[in-house]
Amino acid sequence: MLAHALKLNQRNKIPMKPIIDILEQRIAPILAQLAPDIPNPSAIVKPSQDPRFGDYQANGIMALAKQLKTNPRELAQQVVDQLNVSDMCEPPEIAGPGFINFRLLPAWLTQKLTQAIQDPDRLGVDTLSDPKKVVVDFAGPNLAKEMHVGHIRSTIIGDVIARILEFGYNEPNNIIRQSHVGDWGLPFGMLVTYLRENTPEAASNPENIKIADLEEFYRAAKQRFDSDETFKQNAYKATVALHEHDQDTLEIWKHIVAESRIHAQAIYDKMNIKLRVEDERGESAFSKDLPDVVKSLADANILQESQGAQCVFLDGFKNKEGNPLPLIVQKSDGAYLYATTDLAAIRFRAKQLKADRIIYVTDARQKLHFQMIFACARQAQWAPENVSLEHVPFGSVLGPDNKPFKTRSGENVKLKDLLDEATQRALKVVEAKNPDLPPEQKQQIAQAVGIGAVKYADLSNNLVGDYVFDWDKMLAMEGNTAPYLQYAYARIQSIFRKGDIDTDQLLANTDVLQLDAPEELTLAKHLLRYGEIIETVVRDLRPHLLTNYLFELAQNFSSFYTNCPVLKADAESTITSRLLLCHQTAHTLAHGLNLLGIKTIKQM
Ligand code: ARG
Repeated sequence: MLAHALKLNQRNKIPMKPIIDILEQRIAPILAQLAPDIPNPSAIVKPSQDPRFGDYQANGIMALAKQLKTNPRELAQQVVDQLNVSDMCEPPEIAGPGFINFRLLPAWLTQKLTQAIQDPDRLGVDTLSDPKKVVVDFAGPNLAKEMHVGHIRSTIIGDVIARILEFGYNEPNNIIRQSHVGDWGLPFGMLVTYLRENTPEAASNPENIKIADLEEFYRAAKQRFDSDETFKQNAYKATVALHEHDQDTLEIWKHIVAESRIHAQAIYDKMNIKLRVEDERGESAFSKDLPDVVKSLADANILQESQGAQCVFLDGFKNKEGNPLPLIVQKSDGAYLYATTDLAAIRFRAKQLKADRIIYVTDARQKLHFQMIFACARQAQWAPENVSLEHVPFGSVLGPDNKPFKTRSGENVKLKDLLDEATQRALKVVEAKNPDLPPEQKQQIAQAVGIGAVKYADLSNNLVGDYVFDWDKMLAMEGNTAPYLQYAYARIQSIFRKGDIDTDQLLANTDVLQLDAPEELTLAKHLLRYGEIIETVVRDLRPHLLTNYLFELAQNFSSFYTNCPVLKADAESTITSRLLLCHQTAHTLAHGLNLLGIKTIKQM
């Protein structure tokens, strides 16, 4: 399969612009000529919501007519008169107050889909024109503790955004993942102090430090911190010593961080998150830059002292009383803050990493923080206007009671426990569906289904809202879930097994593709929208558009498969043509799920 796919790929690299863009670009020069005084008039082409109005429609004519003070239907007529889309569409129709409807020709669809099938790496999806250097800041847990459910969304969403950008821009090296871990705060002062007190042996030989249960260790240290004033003072002292790069403290710190990192990495691996140690550039990495951040702000005359603290007052930021809201960068006792580190990080990303797009994936509570960081970075000219600064905020994970998701005893749900439970529950689903599979295979399927379900449930929600964590819903075999899509994929694999189909051979016959039945046409049109979805997600960073697309794809496939016999079709050429549709559906499902960080399985 692979050798053949490679050959195909070399022969046939005909990337295709999204159909929306093709239509926009054909209409644009006509609009430019009809409306010479309006800057960049747009046809606003969108997929039609209702197939009675064709496949795509131009919605922009009415607004344009208003600006030109002319009759919208007449303007639409003028556009249609000059427009040449006869190679791809039936003659466009004008509808309602001035919409233009387009219906794609089966012959054109066939040709385009054939090209997509012949391009297994990119599925005919065009590379987005400006391969940008993008930083995606995600995960970034505070390292002293075990990861819990509060870390799940940034980790899942950030990884998916990075994957989609890698594919869209087709320059994986230009997408830089950055995990801004919390590895420089008071928790480390606590842990260092606790180690010195309880295992002085290990504290003086830090290479022997083994923290079997990070959570226990942190809990014990925290308890001492809360109950013992001397311990507390020592913990503060240790934190200051750390910030002053005291050698002994740094030695112990290094080993605690290393241990925490092992915990985190195990979680990433389990979750199929692409995050390597090299992608970690946490708070400690910027600690030496902090004095210079403050000094540079002072040099640029944007620093002000307020009640002993060093602050930046930015236009437009007010507190509840309507007074100017400061961004504090250094407290009166000399300590630096989360914001100071983020300013150092943004400067590094724009200047050193040369990013022209910097994306932060964190919960919505940090919205104001990033607004202020962005405004300050602009004012200090650390991130010039051509660098795009984007915060992708998301809501909280709620329990069945609509309150923040907690264990029965009211603690944070550990990510490790949550992922184990996902796999266990998925195993039950597999047992019920396919009891005769070998245990190893069941386990493997359960892993893919369980983790996939958790990720998909997270991604398929509109990011900004909170979402309720519901095991039964996310593991359902019906509906907008990962198992439904994984099953759709597996079902197509079983068609290939049943027909004993050799994919290599099938792909040598792509010119047999023919689209007649309405379900074939609907499926083909949907397959050809993949690039449009990728382009939109790259631009707007809304992964649920991709989950929706894949869900609809599986549904379209389902009605195709119900109405169009594949292996039992009348003619040999119809069998081949329909198998090609099956193949491309499975390939697109697997590709899309992979962009969502979700694994497919051949059998379920
Ligand atoms: N450590 C932070 C937290 O746990 C997340 C870091 C987000 N990234 C950033 N550049 N501030 O909330």
